Amino acid sequence: MNSIAELGDLRGKRVLVRSDLNVPLEGTTITDDGRIRASVPTITALSEAGARVVVCAHLGRPKGTPEDKYSLAPVAARLGELLGREVTFATDTVGESARAAVEGASDGDVVLLENLRFNAGETAKSADERAEFAGRLAGLADAFVSDGFGVVHREQASVFDVARLLPSAVGGLVETEVGVLRRLTTDPERPYAVVLGGAKVSDKLAVIDNLIQTADRLLVGGGMVFTFLKAQGHEVGKSLLEADQVDTVKGYLEQAQQRGVEIVLPLDVVAATEFSADAEHEVVAVDAIPADRMGLDIGPESSRLFAEKLADCRTVFWNGPMGAFEMEPYAAGTKALAQALADITADGALTVVGGGDSAAAVRQLGFSDDQFGHISTGGGASLEYLEGKDLPGLTVLEES
Ligand code: 3PG
Repeated sequence: MNSIAELGDLRGKRVLVRSDLNVPLEGTTITDDGRIRASVPTITALSEAGARVVVCAHLGRPKGTPEDKYSLAPVAARLGELLGREVTFATDTVGESARAAVEGASDGDVVLLENLRFNAGETAKSADERAEFAGRLAGLADAFVSDGFGVVHREQASVFDVARLLPSAVGGLVETEVGVLRRLTTDPERPYAVVLGGAKVSDKLAVIDNLIQTADRLLVGGGMVFTFLKAQGHEVGKSLLEADQVDTVKGYLEQAQQRGVEIVLPLDVVAATEFSADAEHEVVAVDAIPADRMGLDIGPESSRLFAEKLADCRTVFWNGPMGAFEMEPYAAGTKALAQALADITADGALTVVGGGDSAAAVRQLGFSDDQFGHISTGGGASLEYLEGKDLPGLTVLEES
């Protein structure tokens, strides 16, 4: 894999950078700019090296045509503020506006192209369609830098195909992220615990499968825990449940027991009458969830148990909130977990927070990035890395 230095003298060269600027928005307000901040060092380094920097990225999941609500315009403005220099925003991806912006750029200038997913070629299943779009992107540049860690698991035109068409290098953010995740997969310091949360267990099956071979403890919270509780024979009321996954989860519980991996589940949950901050709610034991209530957070006994199970850990990976943290009555479990991680980080443990939601959660709950070992910009990407999968955006760079 080439590093940026191996691309040679970049002065006057047009460098296409794939960043992950997929940030949460409320209207046009960015609610967590972590991914933009994380993209700044590579863009700054290229600009300072005299390159004409052409940043490309996606936002949300538009279906191959422009939609105002997915425009990167607010991101261009924030990127400009963080870089401390003007960012020229092209209102298309490879059309007239993009070409004019790139042609008009001087050494050190930064251009941001409109959302790549406004063009169907970006995510096309057909390799030919993708290659056609990648060819047009490549036509805007002399070299390519892959710096969007959050998308390296995607076989998409701007991540995969374009790297075959231009001299390519890995960006500093991807290098850092991979370096940290490698520490989790190659002989992690033990005890090594993984905390999984978030809504759906079906999104995490492959990683659970893999973690049962590598981790010492697996702590589960969030919406997905109710499928685990059901697998243990508990009634879960109106809580999120993936009934078709109960048998698979039972299998994991058995495998974990055979391998001596400790699975830690909540003892209590906050049960509410509906999915709303104003709903009536109370703390109940996991074997007493009323039929007309749904669990929206882990309870205080569970938070204490989770903190205890993490206290002696030397390595922890955390993906997915413990509850519906966006609503104040259900934020305590996620907050307590973040605090437990911050405490062991202060004692020298390696803690990695993976995934957009968990990263947004810790910031929203008042923690700062430096209270954790590493906050990954990649959700799906970090999980797939831990699963041991080949990530197309990385393998293609190894070829170059
Ligand atoms: C993410 O949010 O995890 C990345 O930006 C990738 O987005 P995607 O899941 O829509 O490909």
